[in-house]
Amino acid sequence: MNDQGFLQNSLDPKRTTVAQKALRTWYLGHARDLPWRSEPSLYGTWLSEIMLQQTRVETGVPKWHAFREAFPSVADLARATEDEVLKAWEGLGYYRRARLLHRAAKAIHEAGDFPSTHAEWLALPGIGPYTAAAIASIGLGEAVAAVDGNVQRVVARWAGIRQAVDSKDGARAVGLVADALLDTNHPGDHNQAVMELGALVCTPRAAQCGTCPLAATCTSAGREEAWTNLPVKQPKKKPVPWDLDWHVATCGDLVVVVQRPDSGVWAKMWTFPEGPPSNRFAALGLLFDPVTHILSHRRITASFHGWQAPDEASLRSYADEVAAYVMTWEELGALARPRLLTKMWEELSDVWTASERA
Ligand code: ADE
Repeated sequence: MNDQGFLQNSLDPKRTTVAQKALRTWYLGHARDLPWRSEPSLYGTWLSEIMLQQTRVETGVPKWHAFREAFPSVADLARATEDEVLKAWEGLGYYRRARLLHRAAKAIHEAGDFPSTHAEWLALPGIGPYTAAAIASIGLGEAVAAVDGNVQRVVARWAGIRQAVDSKDGARAVGLVADALLDTNHPGDHNQAVMELGALVCTPRAAQCGTCPLAATCTSAGREEAWTNLPVKQPKKKPVPWDLDWHVATCGDLVVVVQRPDSGVWAKMWTFPEGPPSNRFAALGLLFDPVTHILSHRRITASFHGWQAPDEASLRSYADEVAAYVMTWEELGALARPRLLTKMWEELSDVWTASERA
């Protein structure tokens, strides 16, 4: 059968109805007990969907609880400062999500209520087609299919879609099949069921076709040569190498820190200057071996250079030169910083303690 034939077969209502029913029965018996499922609310669903965009469920659950405790309602979130929001987001990475969440909270708070349709959710900052569909189906019962990475995989394998799922044609094919499969009577459960199946059964490297509720209707079931090659993705671009020099200039318990620009990598987070201080500072050399850190499109090698200022006035004049701030280690610890810095916090605090003693 050619690709078109597979697609037609996948859109056949007899086949989709069998698949839908099997999926629902499986979901009702196998769904994980996740906090946003047991106490459903639009705020909780929205937060979970933003967190799970780039974070695993196991990491997301404790963070979801902590975030809800810090900001119990959308009004609390709207009224918080950006630094408070970024701080609560620490450990989840991809901080842009937190900033957009905060902006959306302000818009919702200003409007007086949550959006009530998929289209209205889509208009908010940080909400793409997948997230809008997930929130509208789970939180509002709207019949829209939500297509994330897990769903792409399940659908591509089930229907035998061989076009790259991240190409225009492939995405269209996945969308058509996902729409045809959607259980319009239970859209929220259905969308979560497909995601859940992708997370627990139809996994990237070890599909468990023997226990899969979709096996009876799936094009790839039990055919390792079929499911291992699906979904097809377009070739990835290599991460660009980025050598970063951070200058850690201290005097007693004080350090020079900069806030990064409003946009780009680590926007508005606190780091160290990238230019060295004058030669009146004592050079401590590299504080530890350069650290490698991967961001979505960059492979960073960060070198931390230590400097001891001769006195506080020199430290402050260096800070002025590089448009930086002088603060204590403890104050820096309370601000939002890149994960790379948090990762090296212990090593940096050793340098600190030595500087305080000097
Ligand atoms: N990933 C994103 N949203 C999810 C949800 N509601 N359930 C399970 N996995 C998810």
